[in-house]
Amino acid sequence: MRFYIAHMLELDIPEVVEIEEISNLSRWGYDGYLSDLVYNPMAIMIVARGDEPAAMTRRVLGFLVGRVVPSALHSGDELHINNVGTHPDFRRFGIGRKLIQEANTYATSYGALRSTLEVRASNLPAQQLYLNLGYQVAGRRRNYYSEPEEDGLFMEKWLTL
Ligand SMILES: CC(C)(COP(=O)(O)OP(=O)(O)OC[C@H]1O[C@@H](n2cnc3c(N)ncnc32)[C@H](O)[C@@H]1OP(=O)(O)O)[C@@H](O)C(=O)NCCC(=O)NCCS
Repeated sequence: MRFYIAHMLELDIPEVVEIEEISNLSRWGYDGYLSDLVYNPMAIMIVARGDEPAAMTRRVLGFLVGRVVPSALHSGDELHINNVGTHPDFRRFGIGRKLIQEANTYATSYGALRSTLEVRASNLPAQQLYLNLGYQVAGRRRNYYSEPEEDGLFMEKWLTL
């Protein structure tokens, strides 16, 4: 399945929110995405678009949002990935992997030294994706998530290695 990565546009937000809701991701909602898109120059907001007829029924097959922020643990900046999701009809085509790789490439060009994220302790598919991309578990955050309440694993990857 062919797809390509593009910067998120305001027109994409309804489908981004749809994927967010289907995937039970942290709720940003329309206004949350729009706010970062318009006001946050350090936001990295990208989408995957289909590049063949079967995948062009939607504008957005998957998306990633993150922010380049000063690291709380180390010197220098890091990309914190806030949300990443692929529409259920388009999973296991490499979209999640490509979104993260592209986000990390952008973050490096912004000067980020690391890439970090939290993931639900029970979310084994996402953990597998991150481990395959070279992330490591660096900590466990007790009851980090709500609805349902659950621990979060903090994962990180050095972008310079
Ligand atoms: C996690 C998620 C983003 C992966 O997206 P995707 O586009 O299907 O991922 P990819 O096709 O790029 O998968 C890359 C690799 O990740 C791993 N992976 C992805 N889904 C997996 C699954 N269900 N089970 C096991 N491994 C999985 C595999 O190693 C896979 O490589 P392979 O297909 O060559 O075996 C997607 O399942 C999703 O949107 N889940 C719901 C939202 C979510 O959990 N987001 C992460 C929050 S922290």
